[in-house]
Amino acid sequence: MILVTVVTIFPEMFPGALAFSLLGAGLGKFWLLKVIDIREFATDKHKTVDDRPFGGGAGMVMKADVVDIALKAALNFYSQLPKIIFMTPRGHVFSQKIAKEIMDGNDAGIIILCGRYEGIDQRVIDFWKKRYNMRDVSIGDYILFGGEIPAMVIIDSCLRLIPGIMNNTESTSSESFSIDLLEYPQYTKPRSWNSEDVPSILLSGNHKEIAEWRTKKAEEITKNVRPDLWKSYKK
Ligand code: ADE
Repeated sequence: MILVTVVTIFPEMFPGALAFSLLGAGLGKFWLLKVIDIREFATDKHKTVDDRPFGGGAGMVMKADVVDIALKAALNFYSQLPKIIFMTPRGHVFSQKIAKEIMDGNDAGIIILCGRYEGIDQRVIDFWKKRYNMRDVSIGDYILFGGEIPAMVIIDSCLRLIPGIMNNTESTSSESFSIDLLEYPQYTKPRSWNSEDVPSILLSGNHKEIAEWRTKKAEEITKNVRPDLWKSYKK
């Protein structure tokens, strides 16, 4: 059982999308979710979690002291040091490789800190990176309102690497990004739809030829859509 703890000012957003599909079915069986509400750790009567930035500028900055106690409360759930991830558009761009790094031999679990507003006081980020090996991760070169949806992306892709969480273990290895090629196209019934027939090779029962056709298609698609992936695949 792997414990995931999300540290956020919007705890109601969880489990949200994570409660569906095979991931949702695995909740309580393969993984557990805890959510820490940062606001509960504010010390003043207004429950302030943010303040104006020193030096001026737009927006608010989440306070170091409040975020630090919230993270420590999360850490208290664990007997071993878990992987700690800070969601930020300034982080290292997430990939299947990073998902594997997070999960490889990970018996301890994961804590994910979700940023909001203009950011979090840099001192608490620096402290947690140095002291607890926190890593900052972005889900891509675009800006969202906060780290909650990115956290869901990380959780989804990391947890589907848990052996047994997928009914069909083969599909994790053959699919996109495990082998640097995008996936070949799939078809199901009916054989004819909208005047288009399913490629006849797929109905032939010849497994060798089907496998060859699929590889050819996967290569074609990768070459056209992702020349960057194609280049490293060809190496
Ligand atoms: N917060 C806002 N945008 C983000 C992104 N692209 N990745 C991670 N966290 C974010």
